[in-house]
Amino acid sequence: RTPDPCIVVIFGASGDLTKRKLLPALYHLQQANLLPKDFAVVGVARRPLEASFAPDMKEGIIAGGGVEDNDPKLAPFVDRVQYHAMNFDDAAGYDALKKKLAELDGKFNTKGNRLFYLATAPEYFSDIITYLGQNGMAQPKADKDGHAPWVRTIIEKPFGHDLESARALNDEVNKVFNEDQIFRIDHYLGKETVQNILVFRFANGIFENVWNRNYIDHVEITAAESIGIEGRGPFYEQAGALRDVVQNHVMELLSFVAMEPPVSFQADAVRAEKVKVWKAISPIHPADTVRGQYGPGIVDGKTVPGYRQEDRVHPRSQTETYAAIRLEIENWRWAGVPFYIRAGKRLPKRVTEITIQFKQPPMLLFKGGECHDSSAIKPNLISMRIQPDEGISLRFGAKLPGPSMDISPVHMNFSYADAFGKSSANGYERLLLDAMLGDGTLFAHRDGVEATWALMTPILKAWAETPVKDFPNYAAGTWGPSAADALLESEGRKWRKL
Ligand code: BG6
Repeated sequence: RTPDPCIVVIFGASGDLTKRKLLPALYHLQQANLLPKDFAVVGVARRPLEASFAPDMKEGIIAGGGVEDNDPKLAPFVDRVQYHAMNFDDAAGYDALKKKLAELDGKFNTKGNRLFYLATAPEYFSDIITYLGQNGMAQPKADKDGHAPWVRTIIEKPFGHDLESARALNDEVNKVFNEDQIFRIDHYLGKETVQNILVFRFANGIFENVWNRNYIDHVEITAAESIGIEGRGPFYEQAGALRDVVQNHVMELLSFVAMEPPVSFQADAVRAEKVKVWKAISPIHPADTVRGQYGPGIVDGKTVPGYRQEDRVHPRSQTETYAAIRLEIENWRWAGVPFYIRAGKRLPKRVTEITIQFKQPPMLLFKGGECHDSSAIKPNLISMRIQPDEGISLRFGAKLPGPSMDISPVHMNFSYADAFGKSSANGYERLLLDAMLGDGTLFAHRDGVEATWALMTPILKAWAETPVKDFPNYAAGTWGPSAADALLESEGRKWRKL
């Protein structure tokens, strides 16, 4: 199914996201014939970039990979990339934008349908939404035949910085748009490997039966990055690891791992099950959290500065670049199973992985006696590699060939690259397409955003009240502060070596 004719309007189009992710994703959709024939993109930002915007986006599309300069679909696509300069807090700018979009409807036959993508700094979200409302651009009137075009909005993260601000933003947005017009984006939900968690669990007969407290010992979620803050000092100083990735990306991963099977794969059914998981998480005690900040160190063989030495970061900054949490989900399926999550920057490598560790069999038949190495009997694991080297692996014990009953851990591996070939998709393709089709299944909705903030806000408050004295507490290129190891060791467990 291809979407209706429409214009995608990107506010904050001069930012990195538009060039690196959004335009390449739209073009990948074009290559796959998934865009409507009648289509246009309008970048909106303050600077006068009329002449350079389209060529710059073309460069971004090529740099994104998988596209040659002479790709036959590229030039006609770039012709549909337009630009409009305005200040987001200037009412007159919205009048001009409205006029321009109407003209483009005439030129490209886009029928008045609009997808407004808010990719600005979050302080502008509220202004943009309010002005779109005042201008009649959010709820267009029906024509004489009773037909009204559709209007939707995608809102980038961060959606609020705590529970209160997320509620306030939800209130503002809901004054102008109905919930079914709002698409709060989390690009992790666009990743194939993340969607595959649901397929793995609910399209296969064998896994779901053991997916519960009777068989699972614990669950680990790691979102490790080797990069630092990449020049985003002012943003990151206000954010920190908990706000930047745990409240959104990691909580989304957790909900897919832990949710009950929804009654259907419809937006409301899926979202309702996710919210139930978040609401069942017991309040997280500050003693079950660890924060870290990287000091200077070596990553990928290169010496890198510490967080406090990064551009526009306070020399005594208290912002965490690493967070680890132990939590429990108080429901029938999960009671008593700890979930350990960790996310951080400047760790030794980029790897996002979910590990399900199973309980040992009720008795270890092969220890002692003929089996010389009982430590070789390792518990079963299912590890889902979200990125990179996407795949799923199952670890189990196998008999070492030879005269005794020695056991060795072996792996059964599924690799996306081997099974399906390499993909150039960046996650935004699916989400942009779904928003154009009006399918909100893979987007956050109001209750969900508030439920995850409700979990994070007490931690943020507790952290703000107790400044850390030993920051930086891990060297760049290491696996985070030792307190994170202690969090698991106190329960006789260890983070999996990745
Ligand atoms: C973004 C964060 O939301 O996600 C970044 O703001 C982080 O700090 C990024 O690097 C990680 O996304 P991905 O897709 O590279 O894992």
